[in-house]
Amino acid sequence: TTRFSLAVVPGDGIGPEVTSQALTVLDAVAADHDVAFERTEYDLGARRWHATGETLPETVLEEIRGHDAILLGAIGDPSVPSGVLERGLLLRLRFELDHYVNLRPSKLYPGVPTPLAGSVTDRGDIDFVVVREGTEGPYVGNGGAIRVGTPHEMATEVSVNTAFGVERVVRDAFARAQARPRKKLTLVHKNNVLVHAGHLWKRTVDAVATEFPDVTTDYLHVDAATIFLATDPARFDVIVTDNLFGDILTDLAAAVTGGIGLAASGNVNPDRTAPSMFEPVHGSAPDIAGQSKADPTAAILSGALLLEHLGLPEAAARITTAVEADIADRGTTARRTEEVGEAIAARVAGGVAVG
Ligand code: IPM
Ligand code: MN
Repeated sequence: TTRFSLAVVPGDGIGPEVTSQALTVLDAVAADHDVAFERTEYDLGARRWHATGETLPETVLEEIRGHDAILLGAIGDPSVPSGVLERGLLLRLRFELDHYVNLRPSKLYPGVPTPLAGSVTDRGDIDFVVVREGTEGPYVGNGGAIRVGTPHEMATEVSVNTAFGVERVVRDAFARAQARPRKKLTLVHKNNVLVHAGHLWKRTVDAVATEFPDVTTDYLHVDAATIFLATDPARFDVIVTDNLFGDILTDLAAAVTGGIGLAASGNVNPDRTAPSMFEPVHGSAPDIAGQSKADPTAAILSGALLLEHLGLPEAAARITTAVEADIADRGTTARRTEEVGEAIAARVAGGVAVG
């Protein structure tokens, strides 16, 4: 039995509910693949901040660093000023652990309702992945405000793009495109306006392209990309883009492929100098927290991405197959969070379709 250590950060709102279902499903798949998951749970988020004023103490960060992977639920709560937990905890983890590839796959599973239905005649197979840069861009906190509260207030958030940071994420995106059947990479930016960063990204893609001759590349301005995501998402294979564009595009991508209840993500450190972190794309949804109304599917699929990262692709496929079967059978009656998790765990354990 191979043992993997997981740092579990359930976090805020619906985070604990969906994370617990993801763990149930991971356990259901573990034995058959001769692995075991040992977990340490970390109490981080709004509760801890209110109790102690801490977001991510140095000692906790160092402990988390010692694990094989991190499973995270959701971070953010209306009782905490906006940005405190997002920056102090979630983004801090992404930055400190060098999660420069924020991997966000979108796949339209059969039977999933989509706002595209009816408006697109032949939508083809929607199966693409956004490689969102995770450690730079406007997220780094390079900015400030002066004359705050006056009519002359000036606020800046400077987007940071380094040749090093752009090149490593672009190279990763090329490698992913190379490994996929269609071998297509689309750079999304806004280089007609953001000329400094935009040209760095474009030049980098053109340069790295020479190392991947069988990958075709194209370029879209981000505004145009939103049109295609809504009208013809099947055209995309791998998209590479900066931190903020990637944030926005992946919510749209989730919306057209069944909603954020299904969207999984991995904050990946491809160099494995620190553990990667897997989390649903959705937030903490405080309005439905504690009511067992949240769909745990995105958290469960994030567990599948975690398995893939740990080198367990067959175990990961067991989960995605079980999810696909569960989705195909979903009726219109709402199920409780744990009902969804248990149904998927049962399919995983049985290795067969039930119900
Ligand atoms: C996401 C979220 C985060 C982001 C927030 C909560 C900081 O929207 O994971 O997409 O902007 O990256
Ligand atoms: Mn987001």
